Amino acid sequence: MLNNQNVTIINHPLVQHKLTLMRDENTSTVGFRTLLREIAHLLCYEVTRDLELEEKNINTPMGAMKATKIKGKKLVFASILRAGNGLLEGMLDLVPSARVAHIGLYRDHETLLPVEYYFKAPSDIADRLVIVVDPMLATANSAIAAIQRLKDRGANKLIFLCLLASPEGIKAFTKAHPDVPVFTAAIDDYLNEKGYIVPGLGDAGDRMYGTK
Ligand code: PRP
Ligand code: URA
Repeated sequence: MLNNQNVTIINHPLVQHKLTLMRDENTSTVGFRTLLREIAHLLCYEVTRDLELEEKNINTPMGAMKATKIKGKKLVFASILRAGNGLLEGMLDLVPSARVAHIGLYRDHETLLPVEYYFKAPSDIADRLVIVVDPMLATANSAIAAIQRLKDRGANKLIFLCLLASPEGIKAFTKAHPDVPVFTAAIDDYLNEKGYIVPGLGDAGDRMYGTK
């Protein structure tokens, strides 16, 4: 892992290998979705690496011991729809008891500004670590708005997890939310004039659901 200020690049070989398969335009819709779920397992493993542990008294078949478990309330995974759900499914495979928030946003193709169409989150997010997931951080307008929405609801401990980011998106996001660490598998070259990450992987939602 490469850690630069508040941005961590998850450069594990399995992550990079699967990401290359996802970028490939010849990868099918089902292949893309399967890979996203698999890669989410690996990203989840890394993003939860520093969770605090606490001790618990248990009995194994051989006797008593103090064992460790994750401290505090259950996590919240917040998915930015649609594409966030691809990461969410894999994260829930590893942390099935996590609570889930859904934030429905789409990018207006002209302005590249997010338009909200749905929001539902657990009422007690102020007491929980919230991991916000979306495969793509392009202009960062969607992620910035989603995090602000969660903060307005009381969330105060947040992490943003994506698969691919643009340098422009990282700059905008860390300026808007300097208190929120970012985890990503890669930072690509640039954003094109239509707000797409280059070389990127295209439109994540369309590739997941075959809607192009
Ligand atoms: C994509 C992606 C992010 C957003 C990133 O969603 O999943 O949410 O674009 O772009 P930004 O950083 O410039 O805001 P999109 O709006 O295409 O919606 P979809 O997931 O429903 O396809
Ligand atoms: N959203 C995507 O799905 N892909 C991009 O490259 C930019 C925004």
